[in-house]
Amino acid sequence: MKIFLAGAGGAIGRRLVPLLVRAGHDVIGTSRSEKGAGVVENLGAKAVIVDVYDREKIFAVLADARPDVLLHQLTDLNDFDYAANARLRVEGTTNLVDAALAAGVRRGIAQSITMAYAGGSAVASEEDPLDPQNIGVIALEKMLAEMPESVILRYGLFYGPGTWYAPDGEMAQQARRGELVATDGISSFVHIDDAARAALLALNWPPGAYNIVDDEPAPGTEWVPAFAEAVGAPPPPVQPGAKPSERGASNRKAHQLGWEPLYPTWRTGFRVGMKV
Ligand SMILES: NC(=O)c1ccc[n+]([C@@H]2O[C@H](COP(=O)([O-])OP(=O)(O)OC[C@H]3O[C@@H](n4cnc5c(N)ncnc54)[C@H](OP(=O)(O)O)[C@@H]3O)[C@@H](O)[C@H]2O)c1
Repeated sequence: MKIFLAGAGGAIGRRLVPLLVRAGHDVIGTSRSEKGAGVVENLGAKAVIVDVYDREKIFAVLADARPDVLLHQLTDLNDFDYAANARLRVEGTTNLVDAALAAGVRRGIAQSITMAYAGGSAVASEEDPLDPQNIGVIALEKMLAEMPESVILRYGLFYGPGTWYAPDGEMAQQARRGELVATDGISSFVHIDDAARAALLALNWPPGAYNIVDDEPAPGTEWVPAFAEAVGAPPPPVQPGAKPSERGASNRKAHQLGWEPLYPTWRTGFRVGMKV
């Protein structure tokens, strides 16, 4: 298939391009910089330099590429700027989807998150409602649904190389400063390679939303000490309590379609999957 990968130079894109190329796909990957484009080319894709806010150029590159699939892996969280990320989800996704539709692209696959479900007492499944306050996520998913076939990958918390939860990532630094608090809030993790593998498989999945998380949603009182130990930080401070939205997510649906995580649980993933 011919795949237009928006975000090929990002944390997930860099792990995904080689998988797509090895599977025989023809990949056109985006970055905003010459340097990022060089990385993308070295991984085996054809790079295009484009900023998703440049609507005219996005239309031009998609019209030129005419891919079978739009794979949207754009996020903007390097500066922890959640407003910038929400803008990217709304405006960036609008530009991508409009341009893809104009270019006759039928299938869209986009990155969403499991952390956007409304509060609840059980782990979240795909039928559960999203929190209406998550305007960016809701807009992204709604926009993508305008494509004839749309697949939404709701990822858990990424860990592994190039992510916040890597030994050199922001969360490890917080842990070393004693700022990462162990609460009763439940999180679901996914290793960055398993996230990429789900995107590869999703090329052939039926339209719909899928939680892409490991098998073991866990409270902070369990995973934070394990993460701290894995990154050489002292035992964390503990604070009872959880937000209703901290409920984790179930991966049953993705499992049923054949996605088997290489790292079924963060317990082993934090120890062996941080530098691979
Ligand atoms: N589910 C999760 O837990 C989750 C999800 C997302 C991010 N994160 C965390 O946040 C960290 C930082 O993520 P990040 O998204 O800021 O960095 P990133 O992974 O480096 O960037 C993602 C991709 O989006 C592209 N991008 C951003 N704004 C763009 C724009 N206006 N136009 C075109 N492309 C654009 C970037 O392009 P360039 O190549 O030009 O930079 C890059 O390819 C990650 O390492 C991860 O730990 C976590």
